[in-house]
Amino acid sequence: MKYFNFIVFMVIVLTFVSSVKGQVEGLEQNFYKTTCPNAEQIVRNITWNHVANNSELPAKLLRMFFHDCFVRGCDASVLIDSTANNTAEKDAFPNLSLAGFDVIDEVKTALENSCPGIVSCADIVALATRDSISFQFNQSLWEVETGRRDGNVSLASEALANILSPFSNFTTLSQGFAKKNLSSHDLVVLSGAHTIGVAHCFFFSNRLFNFTGNGDTDPSLNSTYAATLKTLCQNQSDITTTVAMDPGDNLTFNNHYFVILKQNQGLFQSDAALLTDGSSSNLVDKLLDSENFFKAFKNSIKRMGQIEVLTGTNGVIRKKCSVVN
Ligand SMILES: *[C@@H]1O[C@H](CO)[C@@H](O)[C@H](O)[C@H]1NC(C)=O
Ligand SMILES: *[C@@H]1O[C@H](CO)[C@@H](O)[C@H](O)[C@H]1NC(C)=O
Ligand SMILES: *[C@@H]1O[C@H](CO)[C@@H](O)[C@H](O)[C@H]1NC(C)=O
Ligand SMILES: *[C@@H]1O[C@H](CO)[C@@H](O)[C@H](O)[C@H]1NC(C)=O
Ligand SMILES: *[C@@H]1O[C@H](CO)[C@@H](O)[C@H](O)[C@H]1NC(C)=O
Ligand SMILES: *[C@@H]1O[C@H](CO)[C@@H](O)[C@H](O)[C@H]1NC(C)=O
Ligand SMILES: *[C@@H]1O[C@H](CO)[C@@H](O)[C@H](O)[C@H]1NC(C)=O
Ligand SMILES: *[C@@H]1O[C@H](CO)[C@@H](O)[C@H](O)[C@H]1NC(C)=O
Ligand SMILES: *[C@@H]1O[C@H](CO)[C@@H](O)[C@H](O)[C@H]1NC(C)=O
Ligand SMILES: *[C@@H]1O[C@H](CO)[C@@H](O)[C@H](O)[C@H]1NC(C)=O
Ligand SMILES: *[C@@H]1O[C@H](CO)[C@@H](O)[C@H](O)[C@H]1NC(C)=O
Ligand SMILES: *[C@@H]1O[C@H](CO)[C@@H](O)[C@H](O)[C@H]1NC(C)=O
Repeated sequence: MKYFNFIVFMVIVLTFVSSVKGQVEGLEQNFYKTTCPNAEQIVRNITWNHVANNSELPAKLLRMFFHDCFVRGCDASVLIDSTANNTAEKDAFPNLSLAGFDVIDEVKTALENSCPGIVSCADIVALATRDSISFQFNQSLWEVETGRRDGNVSLASEALANILSPFSNFTTLSQGFAKKNLSSHDLVVLSGAHTIGVAHCFFFSNRLFNFTGNGDTDPSLNSTYAATLKTLCQNQSDITTTVAMDPGDNLTFNNHYFVILKQNQGLFQSDAALLTDGSSSNLVDKLLDSENFFKAFKNSIKRMGQIEVLTGTNGVIRKKCSVVN
């Protein structure tokens, strides 16, 4: 009886602790400490070698991680190649600038050489994303929980249904995040990822050339900035040109996105949308403080990395990230 009470007590304590700390069963820091002690070092070394040569890689990996987690959870389904029978997530329309697959593959090969069958592709994506962004700081910007396992399903149709459109309004964006157990707070904070990287004109040129169908410009877009963008994007059907999302500062990971957002220079309608809701707009003001931003980003990306994860005996450890075992 005593023993039984103790177990009940522990279950309550553990449930309480895990809900307080926002833990997810099966995910923990340094999951591979005994099974593959050098795993995180290997990921970092290879990722840093690549970022040193390619300053655009952090934006690419961050986007890959986001796409992975929002479609079927963080299970590396974004890495699976299409087959004769199946069009995979990677080949869905929203892929347009997905890249960095070569880096993940190189990391996976190195890890399979050191500890075969141990480290999941899903964890590699989470770690390499953190490391690529951290490179310019010469230290890890946040802790990554590991213990994810890989899925074996990847469907283009699910990417189309789950990747939020850059044309969305605040309500639609919040609902899309809520479906993943993320809040509007996470939405605003994670939009800060647009501090690095580029976007195709196609995803915002309606705001420049034909916003309501009268050949007009989106009045919520800074008119000086709109004029600049019109010289960069040729026309509404320009699908090749890319533009920095944080102009003048597209390679540095910082809170500058919120600075330009306040100047009505958010590139997408989904950026401008963050100013259309009272509490979201207040949060944007708070994130103008750099320390607030880094602290908040750390927490929100942790929550993103917990979306529908496969842990324990669920899922598999893929041998090769681009194909199912
Ligand atoms: C890191 O990468 C470099 C360059 O590829 C390699 O020479 C070095 O041995 C690696 N170090 C570790 C600890 O893996
Ligand atoms: C980075 O560039 C250097 C010099 O061009 C090259 O030797 C090295 O292999 C490159 N590293 C990676 C990881 O591509
Ligand atoms: C494709 O479909 C065929 C027939 O349904 C099946 O035998 C084959 O295993 C499938 N191939 C892949 C790669 O899924
Ligand atoms: C993106 O999707 C298009 C088809 O919509 C495909 O041609 C292209 O290869 C895909 N890009 C990547 C990086 O997978
Ligand atoms: C990066 O950090 C390492 C370890 O903390 C240190 O030894 C190295 O000097 C730092 N490099 C730079 C460029 O600051
Ligand atoms: C937001 O967009 C959705 C879908 O396009 C639409 O149904 C809804 O009315 C919009 N909400 C607002 C407040 O504009
Ligand atoms: C959201 O949280 C609930 C309760 O913890 C869980 O059952 C559900 O699977 C989660 N959904 C996602 C998309 O993570
Ligand atoms: C602008 O949009 C309207 C309505 O969708 C369309 O009829 C018109 O052709 C478009 N104009 C241009 C220049 O694309
Ligand atoms: C739009 O711009 C692209 C890129 O410059 C160009 O290739 C294309 O011909 C233009 N289309 C129209 C309809 O002007
Ligand atoms: C990004 O920033 C770098 C360094 O300032 C600059 O050379 C590059 O042209 C920028 N990229 C875009 C697309 O504006
Ligand atoms: C437009 O952007 C400029 C900086 O380029 C800024 O000075 C100005 O205040 C912005 N205007 C509006 C209405 O936000
Ligand atoms: C993946 O496929 C294997 C073998 O077909 C199966 O045992 C496993 O349950 C599948 N895992 C997932 C997450 O679908």
